[in-house]
Amino acid sequence: MVQIDNVNKTFNGKNGKVEALKGVSVRVKKGDIYGIIGFSGAGKSTLIRLVNGLETPDSGKVTVFGKELNGLNKSELRIMRRHIGMVFQKFNLLESKTVFHNVALPLILEKTPKAQIKKKVDEVLRFVGLEDKKDVYINQLSGGQKQRVGIARALATDPDLLLCDEATSALDPQTTESILKLLKRVNREMGVTVLLITHQMQVVQMICNKVSVMENGQVVETGSVLEVFGSPKAEITRKFVGTVVNDRIPESIISLVKEQTAHFSVERLKFIGSSVKRPVISDICRVEGIVVNILGANVQELQENVMCVFILQLIGAEESILEAEREIEANGVLRERLEVN
Ligand SMILES: Nc1ncnc2c1ncn2[C@@H]1O[C@H](COP(=O)(O)OP(=O)(O)OP(=O)(O)O)[C@@H](O)[C@H]1O
Ligand SMILES: [Mg+2]
Repeated sequence: MVQIDNVNKTFNGKNGKVEALKGVSVRVKKGDIYGIIGFSGAGKSTLIRLVNGLETPDSGKVTVFGKELNGLNKSELRIMRRHIGMVFQKFNLLESKTVFHNVALPLILEKTPKAQIKKKVDEVLRFVGLEDKKDVYINQLSGGQKQRVGIARALATDPDLLLCDEATSALDPQTTESILKLLKRVNREMGVTVLLITHQMQVVQMICNKVSVMENGQVVETGSVLEVFGSPKAEITRKFVGTVVNDRIPESIISLVKEQTAHFSVERLKFIGSSVKRPVISDICRVEGIVVNILGANVQELQENVMCVFILQLIGAEESILEAEREIEANGVLRERLEVN
């Protein structure tokens, strides 16, 4: 649905050239909720603006709905944009107009017949749960309600693709959750593909199926959300995952662990997806001469899946520990021996 191939983009900023995108490639498939995460200045907004033709690449290719944007004339680009909805962090609504007017605006601009506009606006307002706010002015709404209006407006033209630039960054955690649930319904019930950018890993965790991590204008890691949460490779990805998954040994426990005089190892186990069902702990206990001590545990829901992190202390002879490690791996569980300093 969206294919970005080896794109470079440089801006002439006040302090010289800024390489906003360096050899960036991203591929979004129909039905995805694709997240792009990165810190401020990583190039996320520039990337998303390429997709609706608001920025053009210096080199590389941007293909949307199978058409390369570079080859489109103005009217072709306008037709393509009709199928792309956009949701913004600061809502970009007309504050002194009503909810109805804001949602109707893209349809008014397209000279859609009045009766049809009314029908469509009613339909999308019902979908976002604001049918009773139709005649209310935007400046009388809460942030969460404003973002619902922003989403309703984006849906008014029946888009196939929704682009969200930090759609929840201005909202409190509870409102963020309700907006993310709404975006998930847009994806599931309306069949709209979503490309969103964010600097919050919770957003990726809650609704995305795929994610790319950006740093300094480059995509440093891409994968399914399960892969990236389960075994993050780049340092920055580990930092982002660390904001939601606590997989470290609790500080307060380290000194207790070190008091152990017998030989031991400390192991981090990650159970993802179906491996959650495996009887790993009882398998370890069956290894002769092994005593298991649970030092920490953390469970995270990743949409339909679960990821559990266990920190275990295995006490016993090195041979027995090695056998226990083999048992763990035979169960398809990711395992890592940790240094305790
Ligand atoms: N029109 C422009 N002119 C000059 N420099 C720009 C322009 N747009 C973006 N940049 C620069 O390109 C880099 C990437 O910016 P971009 O807005 O894509 O980052 P971002 O990841 O969206 O950041 P944020 O999380 O703060 O929104 C930054 O260094 C920014 O200053
Ligand atoms: Mg941005």
